Order: sequence, then structure tokens, then C-alpha cells
Amino acid sequence: MYRTHTCGELRLSDKGKNVTLAGWVQRIRDKGKMIWIDIRDRYGITQLIFEQGKTDENILNTAKSFGREYVIQVTGKVIERYSKNPELPTGEIEIFVTELKILSKSEVPPFTIEDNTDGGEELRYKYRYLDLRRPELQRNMALRYRVAKEVRNYFDKHGFFEIETPYLIKSTPEGARDFIVPSRLHPGSFYALPQSPQTFKQLLMIAGYDRYFQIVKCFRDEDFRADRQPEFTQIDCEMAFVEQEDVLNMFEGMMKHLLKKVMNVEIDKFPRLTYDYAMEKYGSDKPDIRFEMLINDLTDLIKGKGFKVFDDSEYIGGIVVKNQAGVSRKVLDKFTNFVKQPQIGAKGLVYAKYNKDGTIKSSIDKFYTNNDWKAVFEQMEDKPQPDDLVLILSGNKQETLVQLGKLRLHVAEYFEMIDHSKFAPLWVVNFPLFEWDDEDQRFVAMHHPFTSPVPEDIELFDTDPGKMRANAYDMVLNGVEVGGGSIRIHDAEVQKKMFRALNLSEDEIEEKFGFIINAFRYGAPPHGGIAFGLDRIVALFAGTNSIRDVIAFPKNNAGRDIMLDSPSPVSPEQLKELHLEIKKPKN
Ligand code: AMO
Repeated sequence: MYRTHTCGELRLSDKGKNVTLAGWVQRIRDKGKMIWIDIRDRYGITQLIFEQGKTDENILNTAKSFGREYVIQVTGKVIERYSKNPELPTGEIEIFVTELKILSKSEVPPFTIEDNTDGGEELRYKYRYLDLRRPELQRNMALRYRVAKEVRNYFDKHGFFEIETPYLIKSTPEGARDFIVPSRLHPGSFYALPQSPQTFKQLLMIAGYDRYFQIVKCFRDEDFRADRQPEFTQIDCEMAFVEQEDVLNMFEGMMKHLLKKVMNVEIDKFPRLTYDYAMEKYGSDKPDIRFEMLINDLTDLIKGKGFKVFDDSEYIGGIVVKNQAGVSRKVLDKFTNFVKQPQIGAKGLVYAKYNKDGTIKSSIDKFYTNNDWKAVFEQMEDKPQPDDLVLILSGNKQETLVQLGKLRLHVAEYFEMIDHSKFAPLWVVNFPLFEWDDEDQRFVAMHHPFTSPVPEDIELFDTDPGKMRANAYDMVLNGVEVGGGSIRIHDAEVQKKMFRALNLSEDEIEEKFGFIINAFRYGAPPHGGIAFGLDRIVALFAGTNSIRDVIAFPKNNAGRDIMLDSPSPVSPEQLKELHLEIKKPKN
């Protein structure tokens, strides 16, 4: 037997017991006469003690030869510690070692294996197996497992089946590029890895499995962000014989279950915001409602004082920052630089400080008197009070709202207005069916092309597709889109109309989607569903803003696996078998 107990298990009540532990050497303190060694496994840390004169000479010498991360096995007696450590669950005891064995030596690790490690990200990814020994990552992995387990518990209770769907498939359109896999047996042909199991779960509904879920890997070749990975995990779900209301209730139930069971947080009914409201008031389709500071439409309140920037703008909007009129010029310049960054794209920022003495100091004093400002403030929904700061952006409506949304988040972070211990979930509903793609000069599906339009809008397919509303919904948690779904089209003709509206030819429709349109002809029940980003949910629960921290072996921010050094070239033989030739990229 390698061990009688784990390294996190022993307490004062075990005093006097003879025990055997196995684990990694975390820390060695050699004080000459006494040596203390911390031994670690995933359950905790236990202190070992060796004492000159009392401990066997051989054992003492072996202990002195240890390095960090040696794997050892020790046998000894549990004794009460002289100086106790209240921080550690095992902090009242130590082991007086009587037998000792090195199970495996270790080279000096390239970084320290502790929460506050000295290793940079690249180094930690290269040695991810060492990084994964750190308590923080072990907690994250445990959390991820618990979330997945509670997902399964919830769905099991509600009669869902977990069914696997294939990974070697044909392209599924979710708006990203596909990863493709060349076929050896079919020269010149390729599989695609699924961006999601969307069409398969719909086929399962047609097959009669009316409650399906799957914790499943999805693959998308898209640009990197902290909340995106090229391979990530979805909690993919679908139900038949449901309307939007049934879907929202079932999956709101799932999130409540997770928050309760994993985080011990109880949440009432989730607010539902329409897409238009979210955009107008939060400048985002994934609003963070942990704090207020909503956007005020100033377009009709503020024009006509000769300030050309405003007078020529389609839209003018502002946010009221409570109790920050005293903010310095330097900070206002920082906010201005923030909105002027190319990725935000505003031309400038107007501010008005409503001073405590009732005067107003603005960046456009030339055009606006105190009384002009007061007249504006009076009519605002979120009426500024003395000591408040008003920040204003103007321009094209859609763009300005999005810029205000980003400014709102930035300012809230800056002034620490967000309660990071809070969970604020919500639904965004009533999405448009299409988005206009300026580059390609065509409509693209806002969610995906299997999403059903609101039935009353079906006739707009031929006249005004831009106005069509979708039976689609997103779940948002703390400003992060954690899930998205829709009621689906289940009629072959409507599905064809949808593809035509997306500019697909009859041949393309048949070639790419003939299989599902055909399936709709054999008794397709009304159905709908949703998919959640498991990585994002776990990251939010863990309190980290990078999903890489909750994935055992993630890709770095350039999409590389540094440990495996992948992607990497393959041998000429492999290329030949796959009927491929590489054209060297031009430098
Ligand atoms: P969607 O594309 O909205 O919908 O994806 C569902 C959820 O998956 C998560 N997600 C990601 N997480 C990490 N890295 C990524 N690259 C990534 N992309 C998406 C998000 C998102 O909300 N088939 C539809 C679902 C449906 O209609 O049922 C779909 O995949 O949290």
C-alpha cells in the first residue's frame, strides 16, 4: 500500500497513529538540528519533521538530499506540533518520520509550484503538468468537474439523454471558419470538425429523442480572445414539443441549479431584456447588470447650441457617473484615450462635471452655459445630481451605443463600481433574425440559419428581411454571453427560404443542407434548444476572466499548444498519403 492517508487528511485527533503518506516535496526548511519538509498531494499539505539525535541517521541524510518536487513515501507517527499553523487544515500536527523512500526524483522545476508562482504564462504552458499541480488550478479543475456533474444531475432529473454526436462531419455554419481534416481514403475530400452539434441535435429531435444534452467539444477557427478557444466545450441541449417559454424555464432552472449547488447562491427569476433595450440602455447584447449607470439618449435634448459635432450627429448618448465630479483632468484624459482607441473608435469624449456648489464645468463650455446643462440634466432619465460626472459620446447610433457600452464597463471597473462577488444572470430575447454584412453586401444569420423567425414575420422573407425578428435568446451572466439558442425551423420550405435569404443558390442548399431539409420531410416535431459555454461558466464561477485557467491543456493566445509544439508540419510521407501538397507561404 502506497499510503494510508492523503496529505490533507490528518488532524489532531489522529495523534499517535502510525501512518504512511506519499506525495511531492513542496518545501524544505533545514535548520541544522531540525529539518521540516512539506509534502503535498491534491488533497493538501502535511508537515514532516526530522530531528538530529532522534531521527535515524540514514533517514536524516536521505531527507537532506531531497529537492523540490521529489516524489516520496514516508511512514511515521502523527505528533502534535509545537508551533501550530491555523492557515492549514493539517496545521496542528506533523509526522515524525521513521521510514522514507524516494519514489521518483525531480529536476529543479522551472517555476514555483504555488498560487503566487514566479512562472510566466508561456513557461507555465510549456510545463502545463507542473502548472496543474498548483492549488489554484487544482481548485479550478475540481470546480469544472463539479459543474459538469451537476449539469448531468439536473438533466438526468428532467429526463434528458446524453447522446454523443460525431466529430468528423461536414461543415456546420456557426459563423466561424471550420477546422478541416483531409481524408486519406477519399483523395481531395475533407471532413470538417463540428463548430457545434447543431444539425445532429435537430436530427435527434426528428428521431424522437425529445430531451437531449451533451457535454461536447466544439471547434472554431476564429480569432483569439480571453473568452475564446479554438476548441472549447459546450453544454449542448435540445428539446422537442416546446415553445420559447418552455426552453427558457428549463435552462434558467439549470443555471439556478448550478449556482445553488456549486456556488451556494440563490437567484430569483432572471430578468428578460429585449435585444433593443439591451442595446439602447447598456450598449451591448450582453449587459452587465451588476451595476446601473444606464445610457441616456440625449439626441433630442442637447442639439442646437452651435456645437457642430452634436448638431451633425445621428445620435448622442451619455452616462452619469455618480459622485465623481471631482475627478482629475488626467483621469478624464485617460477615458478620452480609451474611447479613441481604434478598437473602440470614438472621435472624442465630452464631459460635464456637476460640481457640488451647483456650477457645471464641461469640455464644451464655449457652447453650453450652466443653464443649458441644467435644462438637459432636468430632462434626462437618470437625472444628474451635484457631484455627478456626465460622459457623452455622439455619432452614428449603432456605433455610438456600442462605444458607450464599452465606456460604461471601463468606467465602472476604474471606479470599482462592480461587486465581483455577485452573480447577475439574465436573458436577452427578441433578437433580429439577420444582420447586414457590409463587407459581403448580404444578410447573415444573427444566430444561425436554423433559427426560426417569429411566425408573424415569415412573410417579410420576400419583402423586408432586415426587419424580421427571431425566436432566439441568449443567457448572459455578469456581462458574459454564457449561452445562446433558439426555436428552430422545422419546415423544409421555410428552411429553404432562410437559405435563399442568405444568398445560397439552390445547388448550394442541396449540396450543403440537403440532408436536414430532407429530414424535415419525415415528421419533424417543433423543437428548440440552447448551448452553453462550459468553459465560460466555470471561469465565472472561479472568478477568473480567462477561460484558459479552467481548461487543463489550453492553447495560448496565438492558438498554439506550447507543450506539444502544435500546430506543426507533418512528414512528406503523411502529406503524400493524404494527397496534399504544401505551397510555401510567400514572405
Ligand atoms: P453559440 O455559437 O452561441 O451557439 O455558442 C454557444 C455558447 O458557446 C460558447 N462559445 C465559446 N466558448 C469558448 N470559446 C469559443 N470559441 C466559443 N464560441 C462559443 C458561448 C456561447 O454562448 N448551436 C448553437 C446553439 C444553439 O442554437 O442551440 C451555438 O453553438 O458561451
